[in-house]
Amino acid sequence: MAEAKRKARGGTLSVVPDGAPKPRLRGAVRVLVLSGPNLDRLGKREPEIYGKQTLAEIHDQIAAAAALRKAVVDCRQSNHEGALIDWIGMAAEDGFSGMLLNPGALTHTSYALYDALKGSSLPTVEVHLSNPDAREAFRKNSLVAPACVGRVAGFGAASYTLALTGLLDRLQGS
Ligand code: DQA
Repeated sequence: MAEAKRKARGGTLSVVPDGAPKPRLRGAVRVLVLSGPNLDRLGKREPEIYGKQTLAEIHDQIAAAAALRKAVVDCRQSNHEGALIDWIGMAAEDGFSGMLLNPGALTHTSYALYDALKGSSLPTVEVHLSNPDAREAFRKNSLVAPACVGRVAGFGAASYTLALTGLLDRLQGS
């Protein structure tokens, strides 16, 4: 998507399906997809662990998967904990019904993200490209997991679309 590629170098990536017929999307489930620190470096960052796809490409895949389910995603990335907390805090008021969250290393350090998720009324799925449980010891602990309805990890970019399927099944009652 042109917009995603334009914004791919900035701190925030935002994607909604281009050309989706707006009237048919009225009332569609809206999902906020958040990625945290260093995930803007996907494609260049340790590709043997995280794969060769850029985050913009992954966002395109998530948007396409959402469109098949007549859902809409807004995909964002920030290297800043506070930005993620602000987005989570506003998500319900902004009209989202659920969230996917890959907090990056904040998974293992951030009580503030845990609090933000607990303070949100929205179901959230924790997402990881790699399988943190099969890596260094510090990655085995997720501080956000107790505030999430589920977790998908270890499937590369597909972790996001698998998590979206699970979340939409829950939200759309499939
Ligand atoms: C990650 C796993 C984290 O441990 C790591 O700090 C990341 C990426 C993943 O998607 O596999 O930045 O969240």
